[in-house]
Amino acid sequence: MSVRRSVLIRVVCLLSCSFFGFAAAAHQTQSLNGKWSLSNSNGSVSLPAQVPGCVHSALRQQGRIQDPYFRFNDLSYRWIAYDNWTYTTVFTASAQLRAKQKVLLVFDGVDSVASIWLNGISIGTTDNMFRRYDFSVKDLLLEKDNVLKVSLMSPVVYAAEQRNAHSAYRVPPECPPDVQKGECHVNFIRKEQCSFSWDWGPSFPTMGLWKEVRLEGFDVLQLVQVSSVPLHDHSVSQWRVQVELLVDAIQTTSCQIAVSLPELDAEQTFQTQFLSGRTKNTFILPLNTSVQVKRWWPNGHGEQPSYRMTLRGFQDGVSLLNTDSRVYFRTVELIQEPIAGSPGLSFYFRINGKPVFLKGSNWIPAHSFQDQVTPAVLKNLLQSARDAHMNALRVWGGGVYEQDSFYSICDELGIMVWQDFMFACAMYPTEDAFIQTVREEVVQQVQRLKSHPSVVVWSGNNENEAALAKDWFNIPSSQRPVYTKDYVTLYVNNIRQIVQHEDPSRPFLVSSPTNGLESEREGWLAADPYDPHYGDTHFYSYVLDCWDWRTFPRTRFASEYGFQSWPSFSTLQPVSIADDWSYNSDFASHRQHHQDGNQQMLLQAALHFKLPNASEPVERFTHTLYMTQVMQAQCVKAQTEFYRRSRSEVVGGRGRTMGALYWQLNDVWQAPSWSSVEFGGKWKMLHYFAQDFFADVLPVGFEENNALLIYAVSDLSHDLKLRTVVTVFSWADLDPVCTLTSDLVLVPGGSAVPILKQPVSSLLAGCGRCTRPTCLLTFHLEDSSRVQQGPRNHHFLCSPKDAQGLQRPNITAKVQEEKTGFSVTLHSASLAPFVWLDVGNIPGRFSSNGFLMVSKNTTVTFKPWRPTSVAELSQALSITSLRDVY
Ligand SMILES: *[C@@H]1O[C@H](CO)[C@@H](O)[C@H](O)[C@H]1NC(C)=O
Ligand SMILES: *[C@@H]1O[C@H](CO)[C@@H](O)[C@H](O)[C@H]1NC(C)=O
Ligand SMILES: *[C@@H]1O[C@H](CO)[C@@H](O)[C@H](O)[C@H]1NC(C)=O
Ligand SMILES: *[C@@H]1O[C@H](CO)[C@@H](O)[C@H](O)[C@H]1NC(C)=O
Ligand SMILES: *[C@@H]1O[C@H](CO)[C@@H](O)[C@H](O)[C@H]1NC(C)=O
Ligand SMILES: *[C@@H]1O[C@H](CO)[C@@H](O)[C@H](O)[C@H]1NC(C)=O
Repeated sequence: MSVRRSVLIRVVCLLSCSFFGFAAAAHQTQSLNGKWSLSNSNGSVSLPAQVPGCVHSALRQQGRIQDPYFRFNDLSYRWIAYDNWTYTTVFTASAQLRAKQKVLLVFDGVDSVASIWLNGISIGTTDNMFRRYDFSVKDLLLEKDNVLKVSLMSPVVYAAEQRNAHSAYRVPPECPPDVQKGECHVNFIRKEQCSFSWDWGPSFPTMGLWKEVRLEGFDVLQLVQVSSVPLHDHSVSQWRVQVELLVDAIQTTSCQIAVSLPELDAEQTFQTQFLSGRTKNTFILPLNTSVQVKRWWPNGHGEQPSYRMTLRGFQDGVSLLNTDSRVYFRTVELIQEPIAGSPGLSFYFRINGKPVFLKGSNWIPAHSFQDQVTPAVLKNLLQSARDAHMNALRVWGGGVYEQDSFYSICDELGIMVWQDFMFACAMYPTEDAFIQTVREEVVQQVQRLKSHPSVVVWSGNNENEAALAKDWFNIPSSQRPVYTKDYVTLYVNNIRQIVQHEDPSRPFLVSSPTNGLESEREGWLAADPYDPHYGDTHFYSYVLDCWDWRTFPRTRFASEYGFQSWPSFSTLQPVSIADDWSYNSDFASHRQHHQDGNQQMLLQAALHFKLPNASEPVERFTHTLYMTQVMQAQCVKAQTEFYRRSRSEVVGGRGRTMGALYWQLNDVWQAPSWSSVEFGGKWKMLHYFAQDFFADVLPVGFEENNALLIYAVSDLSHDLKLRTVVTVFSWADLDPVCTLTSDLVLVPGGSAVPILKQPVSSLLAGCGRCTRPTCLLTFHLEDSSRVQQGPRNHHFLCSPKDAQGLQRPNITAKVQEEKTGFSVTLHSASLAPFVWLDVGNIPGRFSSNGFLMVSKNTTVTFKPWRPTSVAELSQALSITSLRDVY
């Protein structure tokens, strides 16, 4: 297999392609996307429907229903998911297609339970929205008027039937909590689990053909899936690219495969045989050790370079396969090893040999109706993640395995993906049929996703280890072994076994949260999956004071934590009417799917803030929305900063935190939730805060035993020498009261180090007229040349509700058009905390928002996502600060 020979073959191909023009057309594809017809079971509803799509979207597009997200429509449209629906299309099959040896009817995604008929003949059934299905249909195809019918059964009725058929023991939970207004037994159907409702989302159990449908005809063979995974051999420091081809061959076919990475001068030809049927062939392309390969790095750690890979397959000079893709080189290791001075094991990711702190959030489906999640929607959300200095997102196990473009964008943006398998907050059945469909789902998803460097870890499920270990579902201890056995069967003996076989290039965790190796040692179910000495943790508390870092577990890795807030008024407005615009309206409680959630937000806010009390009701409502965002931003900031400053320390046996992924990045609809980005893409105050608290270099301030401590946190690769500058302000005016500067301290790359410690009393004593209720602090880091490093931060010495001297700042603004957007110059008459600029429904993003204004004038920029003007922006602009709401 010399290089020369493969070059020769390429020349032959060029000739053969021109000589035998038909060879290039050996593979015939006919799309069946587009307009189908759709009807319900008794024929009372019949309408055109777009494929890919779903029943709800079709009804909406034809004006048969209103916006399903409007007010209480989720309840009004419940009937849709209780009916059965049939999609039908009539098509002509071209002569070229019918002339092929084999023709497959391919469904990239059927949601979910369906029987499929072609020209009156049943060709198969489906039961899993996460699988691709294909059916061999050559013999059934007519020249024209082929009738293809997909009969979808109500997923709600199906789930209930499956549950009833499972009589030996219950598989909890039976139903979601009433406050979620959802449907029951979602764990009995392989479908987006949150489509039956969640504590942040509505119940819209979708039905449809949610991905492409097509016919594929071929004579010899066809490629079903290609994947390439670079593997690194540390001992000889050599890369090998493992290329896998999943191929359908009509009969056993010998073939020459030429794999090439032209930019790396790597090329090799393999003589191979594709056995008859669907088989996977693997090829290893070793790279010359002298070749310098540029690595893919997470955001903030380097670039995301990739290399073109071409793959050509020939038989006797005739082209059989031809595909181009991109290959990214990086390694990932999950390090679980003893830590000096701490019981338990470390838990951190090493990317290309470098320990990387994972900063980011959790991803949920971007819409109840996946057909409305366009690449532009994904790009906007993922760019928002990157722009807030995130380097990781966890694709949560209650949604969907995202579409290809999601992972491609993550590859390009350097966003690492923690990929759950789609099982969440429940026990699951393990009947043979269920296991078989899950096995196929897992094989297909791993093969589809494993070429993406962004995917750095697989995880078997969301919170199911914890649910069983902590007995969320009141399972009698005598029955516990049954559930334990089911758990191990599904996640260990099936999913883990498949993933390790299909993709040895990444770590696999059985659950999230988990104790990792310790869970394994305890028979896959740890006594306490939340143990901060092992693995990852999820932690929520709404009643404890979120400003008090002592309430947070000093975990190895925080993969979920968060607080709710309401989206802004402009996001709620299109789905509500004036009657709804109060915090105690039926609408406000209807949209809240988390028990006591609205109350909890106010209680948490009231710990530190005066609650809005404007007498004008709508103003009071919008102020309350603002207040929940202030509370959320400040809480998640406090918790995230605690995790980031814990990366280098062990305190009381705990620490070395190496991940902070708050719950949750995005929203599925317009409602209160833990998200930092609203439905539609508008940033909440939290997301603006994340821009700062995830900065590569960050000063963190907190108090311990009445002493102020400031840490410098750095995710950089190189060392810095930094000092902190603390400025003391009075709440009552804009002139600094005094300034304190620390000594320069060495801050090694990838560390968090204390840089200042001083009792608050001595700090204030050295600062004239200051007391805790009258003053507050800002601080930043600077290097030896007095250049500021990282953002400015602040620390309050009392709750703002107790602050003395805080005045209405009467902020005015001037909007001006600039080259790349608009500038907004603010003028304030006094110090103003949490200054919030809102331009209503003009979509776009400010450079900074929700900030503490400690100077008379501040300028921020606004980048609109559609054309606008100074006049429109000035008209829409509202400015709210803390003192304006009471
Ligand atoms: C047909 O089904 C719809 C939706 O389930 C129902 O509202 C309607 O009453 C039914 N019509 C007849 C004639 O049975
Ligand atoms: C839907 O299909 C199921 C299974 O065939 C059947 O039991 C049920 O009665 C059907 N529902 C309606 C509304 O026709
Ligand atoms: C690897 O590259 C070196 C330097 O370009 C070259 O001398 C050597 O022949 C190459 N080895 C292989 C196996 O191609
Ligand atoms: C803001 O305006 C109000 C009402 O005119 C006034 O009472 C208040 O003093 C002003 N605030 C400052 C800081 O000047
Ligand atoms: C601050 O803004 C005010 C009002 O727009 C303006 O009069 C003043 O000149 C500005 N001051 C500075 C230092 O830019
Ligand atoms: C709102 O609360 C503030 C401070 O507690 C108080 O001064 C003010 O009068 C209240 N306003 C209304 C409209 O109740």
